[in-house]
Amino acid sequence: MCGIIGYVGNKKASNILIDGLLALEYRGYDSAGIATLENNEIKIMKDKGRVKNILDLDGYDKLQGTYGIAHTRWATHGKPSKENSHPHFDNSNTFAVVHNGIIENYNELRAFLAEKGYTFYSQTDTEVIPNLIHYYYTNIEETDKSDTDKTLRAVAEATKDLKGSYAIEVISPLMPNTIIVGRKDSPLVIGTKSDENYIASDIPALLTYTKDFYLLNDNELAVITKDSISFYNTDLEKHSKNIKNIEWDASAAEKNGYEDYMLKEIFEQPNSIRETVGSRLKLNEPVNFDDLDIKPEYLKNINKIFIVACGTAMHAGLVGKVLLEKLCKIPTEVDIASEFRYRDPIIDDKTLCIYVSQSGETADTIAALKLSREKGAKTLAISNVIGSSITREADYTIYTHAGPEIAVASTKAYTSQVVLFAVLAIHFSELLGYSDSDITINSNGDTIKLEDLKNDIINLPKKLAIVLENTDLIKEFAENAYTEKDMFFLGRGIDETVAKEGSLKLKEISYIHSEAYAAGELKHGPIALIENGIHVISILTDESLAKKTISNIQEVITRGAKTMVITNQNLEGHTFDYVIEIPKICPLISPILSVVPLQLLSYYISKNKGLDVDKPRNLAKSVTVE
Ligand code: F6R
Repeated sequence: MCGIIGYVGNKKASNILIDGLLALEYRGYDSAGIATLENNEIKIMKDKGRVKNILDLDGYDKLQGTYGIAHTRWATHGKPSKENSHPHFDNSNTFAVVHNGIIENYNELRAFLAEKGYTFYSQTDTEVIPNLIHYYYTNIEETDKSDTDKTLRAVAEATKDLKGSYAIEVISPLMPNTIIVGRKDSPLVIGTKSDENYIASDIPALLTYTKDFYLLNDNELAVITKDSISFYNTDLEKHSKNIKNIEWDASAAEKNGYEDYMLKEIFEQPNSIRETVGSRLKLNEPVNFDDLDIKPEYLKNINKIFIVACGTAMHAGLVGKVLLEKLCKIPTEVDIASEFRYRDPIIDDKTLCIYVSQSGETADTIAALKLSREKGAKTLAISNVIGSSITREADYTIYTHAGPEIAVASTKAYTSQVVLFAVLAIHFSELLGYSDSDITINSNGDTIKLEDLKNDIINLPKKLAIVLENTDLIKEFAENAYTEKDMFFLGRGIDETVAKEGSLKLKEISYIHSEAYAAGELKHGPIALIENGIHVISILTDESLAKKTISNIQEVITRGAKTMVITNQNLEGHTFDYVIEIPKICPLISPILSVVPLQLLSYYISKNKGLDVDKPRNLAKSVTVE
């Protein structure tokens, strides 16, 4: 999704702006642009296509300005084109603006401005912003104010008119060596150093420059020069703000010898799981969440949990539901955030709403969180990004600590979310007093002890390493299957949730259509699609369901399907085309192991097809618009 970079300091801004945009490329975009200011004139270089195209534009190498703004655009209003790329000027070329987000009332604002004589040269919603700023600037009556103060007032007035979401940067010859920024429902951070300041839509883009950040809040503005940053609300009341030190180091956001970020992130999983569990979980001790102060009295009063998220994070939530219901006996529902926010869910002060988001910036998830808070529920955010918007909105936050995830397709964030759900469910179970009793895990009445589950969690990194050593069969399957047009993923119980995630990964980076089904549902329709040669991938990790799933796989084999089974069960007496064996583990956390062959499968298929694994078409890492 769109990315923002800004710089003000003593160095040549254009190089820094381009490097910043390159660091944001993973978010997905279709055009890019920068603006710097020198000799009282704003110079804009922009075009559709890749960031590096800007380097070839006429005059790029002559840019000398020491401050500027930059943007990668992911088209929402108007096709990818030079005219629609940011930065955008107002009609008088006095204010240049870049913008992330969506201005929902841009048609009304456009009509208002058109009536005042303004003309529009793009199809974007953004172009209303510089013109609104110009409109307010020319209508400010206080003559005693400096140009910077008048511009700040004009920006503040303009943002008050905007409905929807925005993160903006503004430069103008009226305020030399200064950038004004503002945000609402779209992320923006300011990285600070002595004698220079940086702006970006996310932290990893700036980690090579600084680890000290100010995280802008909704309806907050900042006036930034190379040696000062002042914060205001939209009524221009000034306030101070604390710096946040971010521990991630820049090398964690580089490829470290791997061909792609996605492959690196898949192979990082033993370590990211270790980081997520950290010192929170130890044998023979209650789980300890330093960052979570939920009291047993509160939990005992809860009669319902909602887990709300999008995409892969929602799939992690499906496993979270099983864990919370089994370990805590609290009914738990999983919702897609974009549906939840509009379906008027039944929520009250006895509901706990858990929001899962790797980026912490997903617009639908944040909106759903705000809704449930308004309805009186307590909210708990699970995020990977320190200080992200969702963590600032929620009552409670726990972090996955999986390290930066750069590839668009989420891998290590998912496994970290799942393991965090497991640790959280154990924690809640202990708070509720179930720690000594056996926990029933399936309809056969099989039980586990929390200590055994803890032991399995502690051993996860070793078992993950084993799964990651066995890639040969997966590569072979990918070589044979990459020309396919359709595939099926099957599973029962918790394995169905993994089937869904495997199917999503395949669609995202291999562009192969696939369906994920509860294996028992196949007969109720989809089996009509099974024909000779179709590839069907099944996950089989729950002993109590194994026989049933095997019967369903036999049904597709009879109809000519080629089968791959990912399993830790004994399959003696059955023949499948490919069997990927994974270590035995408590079924409640088996998705952390069984998903890995599926991540690798979609990766190798995508490579066989020669696709851009890290930046799949049409997708963005952080979906900051609705
Ligand atoms: C899939 C993927 C997306 C995200 C979804 C939510 O690989 O990356 O489905 O999981 O957009 O993103 P976050 O977790 O940042 O809220």
